Amino acid sequence: MRKSTKYLAAVAAIAVGSVLPLMVAAQTAQKSPARLADIMSAVQFRHSKLWTAGRQKNWELAGYELELVKSSLTDAIALYTDIPVENITMIDPPIKSIESAIAARNAAAFGKAFGELTTGCNSCHQSTGRSFIVMTVPTASPFGNQSFAPRQGEGRDPARR
Ligand code: HEC
Repeated sequence: MRKSTKYLAAVAAIAVGSVLPLMVAAQTAQKSPARLADIMSAVQFRHSKLWTAGRQKNWELAGYELELVKSSLTDAIALYTDIPVENITMIDPPIKSIESAIAARNAAAFGKAFGELTTGCNSCHQSTGRSFIVMTVPTASPFGNQSFAPRQGEGRDPARR
């Protein structure tokens, strides 16, 4: 009995010993600098798609992309807890403004709020020592393989409905 307990303990110790370094490696990989840049690259795509969708008054798609922008930024902040909290709060008001513009289907308000969002991106980059990463309002969509046109009945001015 004692012997088998000892044996089990030894097996367990070996198992833990061999798994632990892997777990440590996995955790490190999850938090590697490339991981944050990958999340940000996704944010970059979505920032661009959000713009194109808004320009084409595809409010359904714009709302979808905005949710994904928010979700990616939340992931970045959750994973990289060393990003100061004020950097997160500075991006909040423009996100709320875009939400309202999408809900109101207001292209002018959307354009204004989008500019503010982009400024918010850059404010965080500046305050995290990444001033060299400068986001701009897109000039064209690089996504030739996706249609941003609203579905039939979508995108019309609510006043004209
Ligand atoms: C809360 C802070 C924060 C906010 C808000 C933020 N970023 Fe970033 N972003 C970072 C940090 C930190 C890096 C640098 C990551 C690294 O060290 O490689 C970065 C890097 C990037 C990169 C470079 C990725 C690459 O591989 O070239 C892009 C593009 C980017 N962000 C886009 C955006 C966009 C677009 C927004 C706004 C919608 C945004 N970011 C908002 C913190 C932020």
